[in-house]
Amino acid sequence: MTDKSLEDPKNQTVWEDDGTADVLPGSAARPTAAEPIQTVMHKAMSRRAMLKGVAAGATLVITPSALMLASDDAEAGWKRRRHHGHGRNPGDRLTFETVPPGNEVDVVVPPNYTVDVILKWGDPLTPDAPPFDVNNQTGASQAQQFGYNADLVLWYPLPRYVTRSVKLTGKLTRLADRLIGMQYPLLKHHSSDDALMVVNHEYTSGDDMFPGYVSGSPTLDQVETEIEAHGFSIVQVYQNFDGAWHFDISAPFNRRVTGTTPIEISGPLRGHPMLQTSTDPAGETVLGCFNNCAGGKTPWGTILTCEENFDQYFANFDSVPAEVKSLSERIPAEDAETGRRWEDYVSRFDLAQEPTEYNRFGYIVEIDPYDPNAKPKKRTALGRFKHEGAASRIAKNGQVAVYSGDDARFEYVYKFVSKGRYNKYNRAANKDLLDRGTLFVARFDAGEVEGDDMGTGVWLPLVWKPGNALDQAGFNSQEEVLLNTRGAADALGATPMDRPEDIEISPKTGKVYVALTNNSRRTEPNEANPRIDNQHGHVVEIIEDGNDAGAQTFAWNILVKCGDPTVAEHDTSFGDVDDPVAAGVSPISDPDNLVHDSDGNLWISTDGQYFSGSVGFGQNDGVFAVPVEGPDRGLLRQFLSGVPGGEVCGPEFSGDNKTFFCAIQHPNDGEAFDKIWPLSETDVSKPSLIAVREVTGKKIGA
Ligand code: FEO
Ligand code: CA
Ligand code: CA
Repeated sequence: MTDKSLEDPKNQTVWEDDGTADVLPGSAARPTAAEPIQTVMHKAMSRRAMLKGVAAGATLVITPSALMLASDDAEAGWKRRRHHGHGRNPGDRLTFETVPPGNEVDVVVPPNYTVDVILKWGDPLTPDAPPFDVNNQTGASQAQQFGYNADLVLWYPLPRYVTRSVKLTGKLTRLADRLIGMQYPLLKHHSSDDALMVVNHEYTSGDDMFPGYVSGSPTLDQVETEIEAHGFSIVQVYQNFDGAWHFDISAPFNRRVTGTTPIEISGPLRGHPMLQTSTDPAGETVLGCFNNCAGGKTPWGTILTCEENFDQYFANFDSVPAEVKSLSERIPAEDAETGRRWEDYVSRFDLAQEPTEYNRFGYIVEIDPYDPNAKPKKRTALGRFKHEGAASRIAKNGQVAVYSGDDARFEYVYKFVSKGRYNKYNRAANKDLLDRGTLFVARFDAGEVEGDDMGTGVWLPLVWKPGNALDQAGFNSQEEVLLNTRGAADALGATPMDRPEDIEISPKTGKVYVALTNNSRRTEPNEANPRIDNQHGHVVEIIEDGNDAGAQTFAWNILVKCGDPTVAEHDTSFGDVDDPVAAGVSPISDPDNLVHDSDGNLWISTDGQYFSGSVGFGQNDGVFAVPVEGPDRGLLRQFLSGVPGGEVCGPEFSGDNKTFFCAIQHPNDGEAFDKIWPLSETDVSKPSLIAVREVTGKKIGA
């Protein structure tokens, strides 16, 4: 979600203009004014800053002429890069021609690449679903159509035996379930003509969805449409002989999970009094999931989809009784009315009427895409915060680790490690693995040398025991720790980060990559977040000790400090690239979603370049590829340029890496009726799922 923030000076809560809040250190709800002592690096200068002789705290002034010069230099760099040919690393497949930054009205990809739109907002997902009609939108229609603001994109191979099982019996048979469980780890790396795709629908914008929308006074149909436009879609796609992917409207797997779909509350908080409501006195089933942002795939082939900025949907936090409110002071909802005004029609969004409803959101949701009858489950053992992504890896002893970031300024990076072990031969036995285990939060330490953009770290267990630090901090149970995860992480001295967004794990090395998108409020650097007023964000690489996802200690370093490498004040660094301008490194800001290709190169999509014009960008968001191993480590180049106003989300590859998928979210944000994308449309701009291929069928990037 784009950062266009407003500040409430009273309590140092930063409200974005869509109503989501960040709670800053030193505020009433977060009295720890200073960051943990072991991570603070007072007035330190980063390695790059020292090399360049630029004080990290220097005031940033960029003149238009400096920008012109910057882009001239950059263009020279890209031209050199084109002649430079492919990378020096013999294994480097990233030989594509760099896409220049720009503001084109349509998606731009390298020469020899083609773009297909697979699904757009409002497309019917079943033969019986009504066609999209921008002037007659209802909740009932939207519930059967592709939702709004496509975000996470996941690709799953679909073997024929799974399809046959579902078509013949109406369900995923036990045999098909076992087979896909055993074969998924192999199949996910191969081509498959049939595939399932999962696409999150993060949030809605009435102004950009409904002609004549009156802000603050929506109609019932508009509210119901927005609620149904949230959640996610599971769809079947197939690849034609010409390589193009198409949606299969008659497939039995197509389904929506929306803001009203019953979702099971699973794990330690199931049935907890703080999750019981007037309509669900058992505290076991919640309606819907909201603000599903990024996510990930489990080793057994299920979906993890993350609830992120769920605070913006709930009104009247001020009226919540103190014993309930105290659990959410670190993740507050709207004090009075929301911008969306759903609470005017649906009482559960009014916390004055239903105060515990709020405790039922902020979780990672798991669902099996291969089972069209599967009920989604909120996995409460993984904690309650603004989950951005969910990257899984099997630890050396068979336990399963899931990494997740909390996307707000000064929030934390987490890892869950299951109690039970992964079973390759019995998929059903894995399905509730994520209900029991230990949640950890990361502390990033300076290591031997301060200011060298690397260090060591510790995973701090968020485990309550009588007399331990969490008990002494006022927590009364493990359930309270899971409900108020941020507060517990504060108490243990976790490291406040510059908005942890997506996390991904290299399939080649097991190293973990964390996108830290930006933090314009940072005034005190720490070793892992070394730039004050971090406008452009960075990417941290975590190397678990013993290369074991279950380890409790790690080493880390900064892979990329984003910005325009031609502008010295941006204080950029790009892996091992000594002269990024000469090497043709692309300018990049606001890294958000991540994916690796099968060779281990990291692909980064951005969210915010278009809206950060004041600090030297203003170009469309895009997709960037960067080798992370070998001599080209850090040689980051732009592969795709999105459309004005739209972030690029959910980068993903087909198993054979010959198709690249992503979502174009909120195209022409704020002007969706004036400027229309996809260009073939005539009524309104539509967030969409797209596929990119090389026309002769090479692997993406080659
Ligand atoms: Fe939904 Fe943090 O982006
Ligand atoms: Ca260090
Ligand atoms: Ca994101």
